[in-house]
Amino acid sequence: MRNPIISVKNVFYRYPEGSKKYTLEKINLEFFPGETIAVLGPNGSGKSTLARLLNGLLLPIEGKVIVDGLATCDETNIWGIRSKVGMVFQNPDNQLVAALVEEELAFGMENMGVEPEEMKKRINDISQAMGLTSLLEFPPHKLSGGQKQRVAIAAVLVLEPEVLVLDEPTSMLDPGGRKKVLQELNRLKKMGKTLVLVTHDMSEAVTADRVVVMEQGKVAFQGTPQECFADIDWLAKLGLELPPAAELARRLKQKDLIVPKASLSVADWIEHLCPQ
Ligand SMILES: Nc1ncnc2c1ncn2[C@@H]1O[C@H](COP(=O)(O)OP(=O)(O)O)[C@@H](O)[C@H]1O
Ligand SMILES: [Mg+2]
Repeated sequence: MRNPIISVKNVFYRYPEGSKKYTLEKINLEFFPGETIAVLGPNGSGKSTLARLLNGLLLPIEGKVIVDGLATCDETNIWGIRSKVGMVFQNPDNQLVAALVEEELAFGMENMGVEPEEMKKRINDISQAMGLTSLLEFPPHKLSGGQKQRVAIAAVLVLEPEVLVLDEPTSMLDPGGRKKVLQELNRLKKMGKTLVLVTHDMSEAVTADRVVVMEQGKVAFQGTPQECFADIDWLAKLGLELPPAAELARRLKQKDLIVPKASLSVADWIEHLCPQ
């Protein structure tokens, strides 16, 4: 059995300025190297809070988060942890600090002491992949929400962390921007990176290896996308939808029409209807 790259062990969390009730309660999760995990759940269920615990931005009140053997509660580990676990925030305005996009991309690498030649190469490669080349001389605050979101993602990617935690990274993107981000995530997955993707887009969740569903600060479910999307009544109660391809399968079944066994994603349907 492989060792997890991140273990969340019996974690409780409460915001100091928040209500007395725990925001996260008794969370136990393991993330394995190379896995893509989608984190789903209604608004306010604790997804962003969980994300922030994974790189030590928030510390558990009880329990432990361990990243590659390093506990986040030990202050001396924090830089080691931050270099392993990159975090893209839900709101890019919380992340962008530099005067120009190019400086934003260089900022973290300068702190890590990356050689100038290597820095240039990484900025070049990531800007191309994320469609940012023409924006390098722009101030981030003048960009659209979607452009900012892509800069925020690129600024983490240039640091080449082993684990990427992305909090709703495609929420502000138009279809073109979304496609670029998803292609880039796919490339990272193929490189063997671990991806924790908080999303409310069910078609993104379908392509994950594993799905975690949060409900009122607790892990309500973890398993494969197939298992997750099997119980529609429960999903509806949480206010979550089926992925469109699975919804199509459900409606066809209601009409007693035969549907392919694998019918969660559009790719499943293409394979079924027009196999190559
Ligand atoms: N900085 C904060 N201070 C106090 N309460 C917060 C803070 N951030 C989030 N919360 C509360 O914690 C709960 C979970 O929030 P969050 O983790 O953002 O959920 P999600 O990302 O699933 O929408 C919510 O009830 C929210 O109001
Ligand atoms: Mg959130």
